[in-house]
Amino acid sequence: MKVTVVGAGNVGATCADVLAHREIANEIVLLDIKEGFAEGKALDIWQTSPINLYDSRTVGSTNDYSKTADSDVVVITSGLPRKPGMSRDDLIATNAGIVKTVTENVIKYSPNAVIIVVSNPLDVMTYCAFLNAKTDPKKVFGMAGILDTARYRAFLAEELNVSPKDIQAVLMGGHGDTMVPLPRYTTVGGIPVTEMIGEEKLNEIIERTKFGGGEIVKLLGTSAWYAPGAAAAQMVEAIVRDQRRVFPVCAWLQGEYGMNDIYLGVPVILGKNGIEKIIELDLNADERKLLEESAVAVKGVMDVLDNMTANA
Ligand code: LAC
Repeated sequence: MKVTVVGAGNVGATCADVLAHREIANEIVLLDIKEGFAEGKALDIWQTSPINLYDSRTVGSTNDYSKTADSDVVVITSGLPRKPGMSRDDLIATNAGIVKTVTENVIKYSPNAVIIVVSNPLDVMTYCAFLNAKTDPKKVFGMAGILDTARYRAFLAEELNVSPKDIQAVLMGGHGDTMVPLPRYTTVGGIPVTEMIGEEKLNEIIERTKFGGGEIVKLLGTSAWYAPGAAAAQMVEAIVRDQRRVFPVCAWLQGEYGMNDIYLGVPVILGKNGIEKIIELDLNADERKLLEESAVAVKGVMDVLDNMTANA
């Protein structure tokens, strides 16, 4: 299996490192626009192989997409990260241009690849990749839900003093302040979370989760990378190993949840074809209202992109 990671910044390099270390693909291409940058990171990653005992080969490329030819999966992490005080939406103008160029190049050399978008603003950059890839939307989707649920699960594990492995959760909506963590679908070793934690504490954790990315931007002066990189690698693994894992993914909705022509976080089954199935939950009125509010926020930014494209 061949996997390309476009963007050798913190998120892209972390993703490539996880893919290599866990032997998720035997050939990994890391590509970046900055001269020598991807080659340097790839060389460093490759040199961990005798230490970490794996044989996946990571190679770097400075903007030469021919090296990415016939990739099975491509992860797009290119674009600027957030600085303190910025929302993910502030990045749209710059990152849309970058994601467009990257997607066109990716598709040229790997027309059948499954594309996972990680660039921000996530939901809209996934839409941007879809518009430019001109391929089946089941093969173009975004990574956000695994990261956002990971934050939620980690906070819950800490509060309850239990293993994060035993916290299962579904989180829906856009990758932003309107994301929708769903307590009714959160369990601790199979036990509904509401039997383990008080409402007030749970609401505090939900609020912290919504601003989980911003918490890290404030601490570091730039966005997170360990969890986003690992989350993208987990999606790659589900695809290349045809695991049919159930993950929240930013997917193109065509009637599901009563929504049309929008990229939004929903639970899906991920397998060798990309999104094998979108799972439709029977949301209650409160949950549906939150999801609809999130959809309005995402659609607003998608419209900004559409207007930019129309005026270009
Ligand atoms: C975050 C960025 C990657 O949530 O969106 O950390």
